[in-house]
Amino acid sequence: MEIIKKESVIHKYNSQTELTEEEQNLLLKAKEAAKNAYAPYSKFNVGCALLLENGEIILGNNQENIAYPSGLCAERTAIFYAGANFPKIPIESMAITAFSNNYEVNQPVMPCGACLQSVSEFELKFSKPIKIILQGNTGPIYIADGINTFLPFQFFIKELGM
Ligand code: THU
Repeated sequence: MEIIKKESVIHKYNSQTELTEEEQNLLLKAKEAAKNAYAPYSKFNVGCALLLENGEIILGNNQENIAYPSGLCAERTAIFYAGANFPKIPIESMAITAFSNNYEVNQPVMPCGACLQSVSEFELKFSKPIKIILQGNTGPIYIADGINTFLPFQFFIKELGM
């Protein structure tokens, strides 16, 4: 028996002033996007902002539905928009944030498994890690260098690849 061990690293910052201007701006855009979420059922507004390699910023937010599973998370709303409209442009980084009017979201919100898998596809597509910036409405900021941090044993079958 052998143990296969992988390390996950997250950089934690206690203040936005520790971030680069580009990172601060992307987080601000994600916060603006969260305000436009359609979340009448969960009342949990998530916002996502993607920075593309050409400088374009794409926004997404969660879009819920009375038939609950028909809704979509903020990250996939944004990333699928990027795939649909900028199919050849790699994604540099993404910022994700959330707030609720019912309680304080003071910790970073980790992307759900389905969103991680979708982000993973875009990394594979462009062979380029995507920096992930996370913050609640308040509280610390987490930055990960790529999807590897969250999916260290990510699904990949080379015969299925492009
Ligand atoms: N949600 C996201 O937008 N992103 C995630 O990564 C996790 C959850 C949304 C889905 C739903 O509209 C609400 O948050 C509560 O789960």
